[in-house]
Amino acid sequence: MFLAQISDMHFRSHGRKLYDFIDVNACNAEVVSQLNALEERPDAVIITGDIVNCGLASEYQVARRTLSNLHYPLYIIPGNHDDKAQFLESMGPLCPLLGTDPQNMHYAVDDFDMRLLFIDTSVPGESKGWLTLETLSWLEAQLEQGGDKPTAVFMHHPPMKLGSAQMDRIACENGDQLLALIERFPSLCRVFCGHTHRLIFTQYRQAIITTIPGTVHQVPYYHENPAPYYNLEPAACLMHRLVDNTGLVSYLHPLSQYPGPYLYDANISCPVDEK
Ligand SMILES: [Fe+2]
Repeated sequence: MFLAQISDMHFRSHGRKLYDFIDVNACNAEVVSQLNALEERPDAVIITGDIVNCGLASEYQVARRTLSNLHYPLYIIPGNHDDKAQFLESMGPLCPLLGTDPQNMHYAVDDFDMRLLFIDTSVPGESKGWLTLETLSWLEAQLEQGGDKPTAVFMHHPPMKLGSAQMDRIACENGDQLLALIERFPSLCRVFCGHTHRLIFTQYRQAIITTIPGTVHQVPYYHENPAPYYNLEPAACLMHRLVDNTGLVSYLHPLSQYPGPYLYDANISCPVDEK
């Protein structure tokens, strides 16, 4: 299993920029090109929410057109910037596992040696997240069915506070319900989120809980300052690979332009004429 996880694309309507100056649509098109050009090709691309910025049909038009150029199966879930109905209408054809009910989007992927469970934590009109009773009972049933098979949950909002003054206020408010499932089910060993526009990881019992950067704009981490800052530090995504005898290995993959790769040459590294 080899997966690319991207997040928080925040597409805007055709010709519109994010915050009037960030050309998210062009940057996201470039991300799609980069992923398509990967030498080692992922089995699928995962997008952990905030597909668009304002939940508008015109934004989803751009998102669908751009994302339909990705040459991989797509597993997508919504974030707080998404509109459930618009999201399902435009992303459903790209990710049929989303089903047909915009109020209860969740699905399992059983194609690999690790189970992947996708849930929706968005709440209409709210920035914070929430796990509905329906989602929690679906998750519980899935974890019971899955037995010992290692399992990863993908959700937009992190299930706990991560010490960021800006983002903690809008984490998943009842994420403790997910933590209770981590306690009950040793198979649940990873939780991958978006929302914070930053690579952050922590651990709860056996589960590593991670949030990942956005595809275009990022959010600086301040422990004390709750002001809603954003920046344009280099974008990145996370790659997840199941490695024999090790398990899931996840690593950062930059989405910005940079020189290289260069092939290591021992003769250049320590030239003999310097000895
Ligand atoms: Fe976001």
